Amino acid sequence: MLAGKHVVCGVSGGIAAYKAAALVSALAQKGGHVHVVMTRAAAEFVSPLTFRSLTGNPVHSEMFEEPKVWKVEHVGLAEQADLAVVAPATANVLAKMAVGVADDFLSTLLLALTCPVFAAPAMNRAMYRHEATQHNLALLRGRGVRMIGPAVGMQACGTAGEGRMSEPEEIVAALEGFLARRGRWQGRKVVVTAGGTREPLDPVRYIGNAGSGKMGHALAEAFQESGAQVVLVTAAEREAAVGVKCVRVMTAEQMRTAVLEEFAEADVVVKTAAVADYRPVRVAEKKIKKDVGGSGVDSIEGDGDAERFGKDNDGLGTDGNGTCEDGSVCRHDDGRLSVELVPNPDILAELGRIKVNDIRKPSGIGRTSSIGKQNGIGKPNGIGKPNDIGWKKPFLVGFAAETHDVLAHAEEKLRRKNADMFVVNDVTQEGAGFGGDTNIVSVLFRDGSREEWPLMSKTEVARRLVDVIGDRMT
Ligand code: PMT
Repeated sequence: MLAGKHVVCGVSGGIAAYKAAALVSALAQKGGHVHVVMTRAAAEFVSPLTFRSLTGNPVHSEMFEEPKVWKVEHVGLAEQADLAVVAPATANVLAKMAVGVADDFLSTLLLALTCPVFAAPAMNRAMYRHEATQHNLALLRGRGVRMIGPAVGMQACGTAGEGRMSEPEEIVAALEGFLARRGRWQGRKVVVTAGGTREPLDPVRYIGNAGSGKMGHALAEAFQESGAQVVLVTAAEREAAVGVKCVRVMTAEQMRTAVLEEFAEADVVVKTAAVADYRPVRVAEKKIKKDVGGSGVDSIEGDGDAERFGKDNDGLGTDGNGTCEDGSVCRHDDGRLSVELVPNPDILAELGRIKVNDIRKPSGIGRTSSIGKQNGIGKPNGIGKPNDIGWKKPFLVGFAAETHDVLAHAEEKLRRKNADMFVVNDVTQEGAGFGGDTNIVSVLFRDGSREEWPLMSKTEVARRLVDVIGDRMT
């Protein structure tokens, strides 16, 4: 796994720096091109010569020393690196990483890196437990840095506790595991939906929900960095990760169209989006006015207490038959406003039906019935057939945001929509669900098994989901 990979090893100044020699040696023995970058303090614990001898490469430490290669060195290394691991990562270096301080070679390089970054924290247990350190760790995790350890055990200060650097073999195993998991997504196509759909009422208003797209965008990024080909169908106004094909939509029907466009070739579909279950029967052509002053407003016959917005005022396109049943927005005498809604297509349920029944054409709900023809759905393409490793394409993952009877509702949705897996968040819990950077989820599988995960950043939830989905598919 590590053979031929350029691995940057950052060594910062703690007693555990001596363990970095064993780590660097193991990485080099596995065929990695190891580039060691030390802080000045680290060089007090272990000589740079040790690392140079183990790797056969120059050791970097000072920003302004004579360059060892012909290029701005930290930039050159950053471009070259496939992986980076900071071990030991002291409280000081973690704090610098968290705020983006760049005052020596290592911290400057860490800012310039675009490859996956790992850190193995190592410090006294009180320093590790300190609020500042925990805050920095949370920031870094949320930003995508993968923490390895720390372990619990005897510390250099003579006390036992949490804060020991993980053993070199554990760090190597974590790096190899990461590369292995990344390899299995090569050549696989994943469709992720994100955000909350918005269903327009008129040109300036819509019915929406609190879906920010953070969970779905984190998933798209996690699949992308694992090597999958990712299509993100999003109703959120967030940036998509580099390399992800991003399809922007607003409504549930647009989302359905976009998902069905990509569905035929997908190995996995993850429906993270909060899709509006209903939409207004009709979208007003013009902005609906608060006070129409009587002009141009049709009375509702047989109702007696409601008026319908007339075309002159609001462009709602009434048919003049004196009822609201055509989808008009009705104003009542007491100031209430009624909006008639119709159900949206249930995209996940439709995918589940296509999969279980081997229907090659989508059902044609709404305006999107021609998608199958455009896209070649209708020709044999393996949808619904068990593939050579036993699961039926595509692997369907639903999400559920619940407020009560959380597991029962999610279980019911998993069965009804014929999904392979459901991720449920109880949105009444602090730190879970809409809008925030963290989530607390339970993961339900078709075979009735379940995993409960603690509070994590959405980035971490996404990465774990990528691994779990990969495990379940193979
Ligand atoms: O975007 P964030 O702010 O980060 O928030 C993340 C989240 C809370 C939106 C996410 O974690 C989440 O829970 N998403 C699902 C929201 C929901 O309640 O879904 P649902 O129970 O209405 O639907 C169940 C599943 O069916 C979902 O996968 C949904 O995408 C899908 N569905 C629902 C309705 C519909 N018409 N079509 C669908 O495909």
